[in-house]
Amino acid sequence: MIQIAPSILSGNFLHLEPDLKMINEHADLIHIDVMDGSLVPNISFGFPVMEAIAKVIEVPMDVHLMIVHPEKYIERFAKAGAQMISFHLEAADEAGIDAGEILDLVHRCGAKAGLAIDPDVPVERLYPYIEKTDFFLIMSVFAGFGGQKFIEASLGRIRQLHDEMERRGVRRPIEVDGGVSAANAALLADAGAEILVAGSSVFKAADPAEAIAQMRVR
Ligand code: DX5
Ligand code: ZN
Repeated sequence: MIQIAPSILSGNFLHLEPDLKMINEHADLIHIDVMDGSLVPNISFGFPVMEAIAKVIEVPMDVHLMIVHPEKYIERFAKAGAQMISFHLEAADEAGIDAGEILDLVHRCGAKAGLAIDPDVPVERLYPYIEKTDFFLIMSVFAGFGGQKFIEASLGRIRQLHDEMERRGVRRPIEVDGGVSAANAALLADAGAEILVAGSSVFKAADPAEAIAQMRVR
């Protein structure tokens, strides 16, 4: 079954509550993009916004950390209510810490641990962490901004990871993030993606609930 995770980055920051209620009613997860202006060339929001979201949201909070040194903030995000926390393998590289240690930290904080990669990181780099990781986040645009065009080569990358897990007899959900819409949802599901993150295709739609329904291809 496909799960739909609307990215609140494309929500109405002047008045988030209606968007959160729409997510409660129609989606499976809420995707929360945290950017630090250092790992990625953009800054989004942090704890005050996340804590406000936590008061209203009823679906699990899926926090996507696009920050250097994720290990410094994971505990705080877990305490703020994140049930799923992903960080970038590139951030672990930059910090000089093995990603496995950060995955362990997420687990110690009681959350599901996700490992994310940008489109230019070879999928094979995820293989050493297949057993330890609860879900993978394959970026289908370069992390940093909503509203970018889906990179078609992402389909092959998702299939490659899916096939490798199958070969090992391990099942971990693959989340895909960037340029996802009803136009590519079926292709993504065929390739092996199970969690579809969607920002602009949901919130810029005239009817966000209908946009979500159209992505439920399985
Ligand atoms: C981009 C973020 C995405 C973004 C997706 O770096 O990780 O979650 O909000 O937005 P769309 O769906 O508009 O590409
Ligand atoms: Zn994201």
